[in-house]
Amino acid sequence: MGFRSLWWILAAAAAAAPASAATTIHLCGDSTMAKGGGGASGKPTEGWGEYLKYSFGSDYVVRNAAIGGRSARSYTREGRFQAVADIVKPGDWVVIEFGHNDGGSLSTDNGRTDCPGDGAQTCQTTYNGVAETVLTYPAYYKNAANLFLGKGAKVILNSPTPNNICESGTCVDDVSRFDTYAKQAAIDLASPNVYHVPHKQYAVQVMKNLGPTTVTANYPNDHTHTGPFMANVMAGSFVLGLKCGTSALGKAVKNSTESLASASYGACIK
Ligand SMILES: *[C@@H]1O[C@H](CO)[C@@H](O)[C@H](O)[C@H]1NC(C)=O
Repeated sequence: MGFRSLWWILAAAAAAAPASAATTIHLCGDSTMAKGGGGASGKPTEGWGEYLKYSFGSDYVVRNAAIGGRSARSYTREGRFQAVADIVKPGDWVVIEFGHNDGGSLSTDNGRTDCPGDGAQTCQTTYNGVAETVLTYPAYYKNAANLFLGKGAKVILNSPTPNNICESGTCVDDVSRFDTYAKQAAIDLASPNVYHVPHKQYAVQVMKNLGPTTVTANYPNDHTHTGPFMANVMAGSFVLGLKCGTSALGKAVKNSTESLASASYGACIK
């Protein structure tokens, strides 16, 4: 090979490198994760997905596809998981976190409530004049995960963050049926490319460490939607949970466990 053709090969490889290098982390969730944090009126809010990029190097890109007001069910029905699957690249990551809009009763169907249960139960409803078979929250998680696995992506199933657990003036653990569903869905999927982050537990831990004054001051409008400071805290609690797990994405986190511990996030939860 002549020197000139070798030069061209090296130059072409260098030019192609940036396009293929970045791994995308796609985020699917509700207002607590979404850009703007769902606070269209009132004081500024932000979703935690907007702060995730600060914990990764330039070899990762965070694409926040979370939208306010969505549940695992409505995100599915509106084709939003499918829209993410349409652009996901093999080797990308997809983080799924719902729960704030998944409760309620189907007797007055708001289009978001899931069928009660943790398995293959189904419910029949009519929403907006259209008959719909409603699945359980874990079933929506598993269907979405299988969609992304089929595209060669890796999937992280999160339990949802709680509302402000400190609003009474004391930070007390709340208990929700959504606390365990994501973990169970990950276990059921039994795939080496599916992981669970107990975001709920890590969020509770940091809120207790920060205390009621700081926490409540950073829920500016209500007990669900975070101000920017608390959104960053929620991102950090996810990052610690990720680091404490076994995924390659956890190993890519820039922040050390020590720095997270000294910033009130606490230690790995066993
Ligand atoms: C992680 O490190 C980055 C870069 O130093 C910093 O901007 C970010 O706030 C850190 N995140 C947490 C949760 O401490």
